Amino acid sequence: MVVTMKLLVFLVIVSIHAISMSLAQEGNQFVHYDFKKADLYVDGMATIEDGRLKLTNSSKRATGHAFHKSPINFTNTSFSFSTEFVFAIVPEESTSYGQGMAFLISPSIDLRYGAATSYLGIFNRTNDNKTENHILAVELDTNASSEALEESDNHVGIDINSIVSVYSADASYFDDTEGLRKRLVLASEKRIHIWIDYDGEHRVLNVTLAPLETPRPSLPLLSRFIDLSKIFKEQMYFGFSGSTGTIRSHQYILGWALAIGEKAQSLDVSKVLDLPRPPPNHLPLILAFATTTVFLIIACGFAYLYHQRRYAEVFEQWEKKYSPQRFSFRTLYKATKGFKENRVLGAGGFGKVYRGDLSDGTEIAVKRVSHGAEQGMQEYVSEIATMGRLGHRNLVQLRGYCRRKGELLLVYEYMPNGSLSDYLFGDNNLSWSQRVHIIKGVASALHYLHEGWEQVVLHRDIKASNILLDSNLNGKVGDFGLARFHDRGETLQPTRVVGTIGYMAPEIATLGVANELTDVYAFGALILEVVCGRRPLDLERSPEQRILVEWVVSFGRRGCLVDTVDSKLACNFTTEEAKLLLKLGMLCSQRDPENRPTMKDITEYLDKKKSMPNITFDIAEIGIPIVPLINNEMATTSHGTTSSFASFWYDTITVLFRGR
Ligand SMILES: *[C@@H]1O[C@H](CO)[C@@H](O)[C@H](O)[C@H]1NC(C)=O
Ligand SMILES: *[C@@H]1O[C@H](CO)[C@@H](O)[C@H](O)[C@H]1NC(C)=O
Ligand SMILES: *[C@@H]1O[C@H](CO)[C@@H](O)[C@H](O)[C@H]1NC(C)=O
Ligand SMILES: *[C@@H]1O[C@H](CO)[C@@H](O)[C@H](O)[C@H]1NC(C)=O
Ligand SMILES: *[C@@H]1O[C@H](CO)[C@@H](O)[C@H](O)[C@H]1NC(C)=O
Ligand SMILES: *[C@@H]1O[C@H](CO)[C@@H](O)[C@H](O)[C@H]1NC(C)=O
Ligand SMILES: *[C@@H]1O[C@H](CO)[C@@H](O)[C@H](O)[C@H]1NC(C)=O
Repeated sequence: MVVTMKLLVFLVIVSIHAISMSLAQEGNQFVHYDFKKADLYVDGMATIEDGRLKLTNSSKRATGHAFHKSPINFTNTSFSFSTEFVFAIVPEESTSYGQGMAFLISPSIDLRYGAATSYLGIFNRTNDNKTENHILAVELDTNASSEALEESDNHVGIDINSIVSVYSADASYFDDTEGLRKRLVLASEKRIHIWIDYDGEHRVLNVTLAPLETPRPSLPLLSRFIDLSKIFKEQMYFGFSGSTGTIRSHQYILGWALAIGEKAQSLDVSKVLDLPRPPPNHLPLILAFATTTVFLIIACGFAYLYHQRRYAEVFEQWEKKYSPQRFSFRTLYKATKGFKENRVLGAGGFGKVYRGDLSDGTEIAVKRVSHGAEQGMQEYVSEIATMGRLGHRNLVQLRGYCRRKGELLLVYEYMPNGSLSDYLFGDNNLSWSQRVHIIKGVASALHYLHEGWEQVVLHRDIKASNILLDSNLNGKVGDFGLARFHDRGETLQPTRVVGTIGYMAPEIATLGVANELTDVYAFGALILEVVCGRRPLDLERSPEQRILVEWVVSFGRRGCLVDTVDSKLACNFTTEEAKLLLKLGMLCSQRDPENRPTMKDITEYLDKKKSMPNITFDIAEIGIPIVPLINNEMATTSHGTTSSFASFWYDTITVLFRGR
């Protein structure tokens, strides 16, 4: 008996199951959490993505539809139905919501004629408000459109055959715990639960909303009397429609339950899918990344430009053949630590000279010469390049050059002991043998310049401050800034005469010429300067002592020539050598250039290979150096005691006799 009862109960349960199964199979009842498993018809923008039904994408003014494929037969039944679903609207822009979406019951599965934007993909201008539509829609509208006579951009409406809602209300829900209505933002990117129920017997349609986490409110948002028997056809399709305008939103259906003639099975909210993570949340990240990238690119650009500007050089086609002697500005910039002030060896009218260290450890001196015009540059650089090839141990080696806009940089070997002028008149004490050694070195260099090269190289600015001393106190001729090349036997006829007061032969002023013998005159002045330890022209002294040559001649006439030797030396010098050098200085200072020896003669006299001719200490025979009519103040600046700092090439006062 008990067994029979149990069997009966089992059979009843099985049959109930079978009935409900058949209902589900007939499409009169279903629950979907994963739309991949749902038998849906989709068109337009609508897609099923990872189990979610997505009605819209980023296309503008487009529509998307999704329908349950099997129609519902309302023949011989009341029109009762109940459905619930979870949706989420994700606007693309934070400032506006875009268009809305709708749940709809339609006799046709194909609503592709439905217009986008405010028609929500359901109706169009021609068929709107036509009874032939047989459509019931519940719109979830996020844009107040004039066509639909709407005023709210966050409303729920019941539409019958027209986009103009018959009933509508601002989206809200009844909070049962607090007993009051609360506003609900449809396009909030949050999941919203909606229930739509129709009681065919009482012909009441209820629409109820709530946030997903809130249980079904006891009061619906809309509850209206509608006779669906006058609207519906026998076969109706259940589905959704969504549309976009110029402003778009992504519309998702995340779960859906439907039942015909009875109450729908409640959706299990825990099974409802979340929104894809993170949907447009990539945007800030992408923006941040893009901003950083753009910033980096700009920064790199600036760095590049700065780099370009900082290391910019001028390089012309004709310079190609000099490229081995060319230094990059970058190299020089690094070598001098960015031309730091503490690297300045000396400064003058042309610019400054800096000490630098090349990466291989070589020490260099970089002279920065600013120049206005580019004309003559080619000639000048070619001379520099030629000078770079001049090789003599008593010439300051020019290692190369670099050109920038308005600037020329000359790279020389570094001379640690500075200029002879600074050394001689500084705190150091040059011994007699060192002095002789320096004079011999300079003589040898000048001999080489005048005769040891295919062209005659005139230095034109021989003076103590242009003689540089290396670590072993070897004298080296430097600063070829005024040097000129010319073919042998030719006399240079410069348009402007250059040189330094005290070292310039008288004929430079009177005839405006420069040749080897004007260099010899300057060398003579240098010999006297080194031996006597006095500048060729010293306007601070008494008139009879001002011009060194005159002063030495006066001693020679009195037969006490060696009394002119630098008192710093005390008596530590060789009288014979001193006499020879002083006489040689006199010989080089002859007024008549023809009476001066050549550099070849001079080296031979110094090496005692040849004996010097006798000289008369006749002041009329002596060429008095050019002493321009300058006042004492200017003279002081010219030859003043400013050389206490390492002026290295730069205590030059160049006198220009323009247009002579
Ligand atoms: C949106 O969907 C339509 C129809 O499937 C497609 O043609 C279009 O490329 C999609 N647009 C975007 C931006 O994904
Ligand atoms: C609906 O009704 C039609 C006849 O009008 C019938 O052919 C069809 O099988 C019915 N469908 C269902 C699901 O009852
Ligand atoms: C519907 O009911 C009517 C009578 O009320 C009957 O004549 C008709 O055959 C029924 N139709 C179906 C499809 O059951
Ligand atoms: C409604 O749509 C219009 C036109 O597409 C747009 O300018 C407006 O910002 C939208 N409003 C909202 C709230 O989305
Ligand atoms: C509007 O929809 C109807 C179908 O109901 C269609 O025949 C018509 O061509 C559509 N009109 C426009 C402008 O799309
Ligand atoms: C819709 O059509 C009916 C008559 O068919 C008319 O009374 C009503 O005003 C129309 N509504 C709109 C919004 O045009
Ligand atoms: C519709 O809402 C009203 C008012 O809350 C309620 O009395 C009625 O039972 C509801 N009907 C359905 C089918 O839910």
